[in-house]
Amino acid sequence: MELNLLTLCYLIASITFILGLKMLSNPATARKGNLVAAAGMTIAIAGTIFLYEQDGEKLHNYAWIFGGLAIGGIIGTLAARKVKMTAMPEMVSLFNGMGGACAALISLVEFNHLSKQLAANEVEISAVQPTVLIIVLGLLIGSVSFAGSMVAWGKLNGRVKDFSFTGQNILNLLILLVAIVAGVILVLNPGQPLLLYAILGLALIYGVMFVMPIGGADMPVVISLLNSFTGVAAACGGFLYDNKVMLTGGILVGAAGTLLTILMCKAMNRSLQNVLIGSFGGHKTAAVAGGKQQGAYKEISLSDAAMVMSYANKVMVVPGYGLAVAQAQHVCHELEKILEEKGVEVKYAIHPVAGRMPGHMNVLLAEADVSYDKLMEMEHANDEFKTCDVVLILGANDVVNPAAKNDPASPIYGMPILEVELAKTVIVNKRSMKPGYAGIENDLFFQPKTSMLFGDAKKVLQDLCAEVKTV
Ligand code: TAP
Repeated sequence: MELNLLTLCYLIASITFILGLKMLSNPATARKGNLVAAAGMTIAIAGTIFLYEQDGEKLHNYAWIFGGLAIGGIIGTLAARKVKMTAMPEMVSLFNGMGGACAALISLVEFNHLSKQLAANEVEISAVQPTVLIIVLGLLIGSVSFAGSMVAWGKLNGRVKDFSFTGQNILNLLILLVAIVAGVILVLNPGQPLLLYAILGLALIYGVMFVMPIGGADMPVVISLLNSFTGVAAACGGFLYDNKVMLTGGILVGAAGTLLTILMCKAMNRSLQNVLIGSFGGHKTAAVAGGKQQGAYKEISLSDAAMVMSYANKVMVVPGYGLAVAQAQHVCHELEKILEEKGVEVKYAIHPVAGRMPGHMNVLLAEADVSYDKLMEMEHANDEFKTCDVVLILGANDVVNPAAKNDPASPIYGMPILEVELAKTVIVNKRSMKPGYAGIENDLFFQPKTSMLFGDAKKVLQDLCAEVKTV
């Protein structure tokens, strides 16, 4: 009876994970989707703690279990409450690393159990080989994910710098190959615990070495890939424990991470192989060093910008990382409302990698209650720019850089961009002429259609609101 109830808990949890993921794909339902999946996870955890039985025995070490839950819960809640939106990828990376570490630890613990059974001749070697294979896979993938995520976390918060040397990719492949060979030997002959620790060491080194040279705009892709690794490693844990919900959860994370990785590569028009071994950072330095001399740019005053926008039929706002840094989303929404009261149609063009994490701009604007149907995906926005009188760029740079289309030497060449220059007038708000994330100049700022409106996005938008009201 209890086992059936537990199976039911796992079934409900698995369904909530799938529903949650589906709801996360739309900004209007994303928040609810998160809660639905979290509720399912709570049911799965509670079911395991209170209903799980093995050989007629229930779990008994409650002090450890609830101690761990309380410590993890408190740290997780505080971290999630404290984290700034712009530091979210760092947190995702850190938490993802913890998932990888858990999966690796499960493998170590389970191998320890098996070793004891083998030493006591309680089991046949051939009977445990499939389990050892899963243990090795969980350890390898989980450790790579843990070490890689830690390096990615360090890079995103500026503590770890990009590092590469000639032949690094070959050395990385060799390390991975040796780890795999050690794994195969261990599966064939499971009575060698030292090999397991060798695999652990090699996988940790590989995780560090594999992420070290990757930098710049490629970090989100790597984090998403590592996320999918953690999912697969967790699925290995589910397989080991014959735990269906862990298996389903792991597979879903693995699949979602892989899909996100592919989508992000597509958004930058790069192959995954190019992201992983293309060393974006290296190209970047070369491009900046060899950057051509730009012409002059022109500035626009607040009152002129207010005038141009007030008399426009349609204004397209292009939000970018700077809008998030300035926390100017609320005042941006206010400007939208003021303009609309004057009969101006206002929409937002959202680039898939604007900001610093997938969906960053959607989340930012949702926080300010901007209506979802005003947000246009890149393809649709590109069709509409030609009908816009004004494009107002707020703290965006790389995602509107025409070098992605025109300059094959540029490190962002091939990345689809928002084609803002199709509009009649382009107003760019940023604080200076400094480059964005990719570290490269932007030709758009020097084009005749473009005017610069310098200043912190929040201050500029506040002043713009005041000016537009007086027009
Ligand atoms: P960026 O190219 O990084 O440009 C942001 C611009 O905002 C900067 O040039 C900066 O210029 C300006 N800025 C900063 N603070 C500001 C403030 N307080 N007020 C006004 N402007 C401010 O941003 P983007 O166009 O959104 O492109 C995103 C980049 O990040 C891409 O290269 C993308 O590949 C990469 N990336 C994306 C992600 C994801 S998944 N979204 C994750 C990591 C990296 P000033 O300093 O002159 O003000």
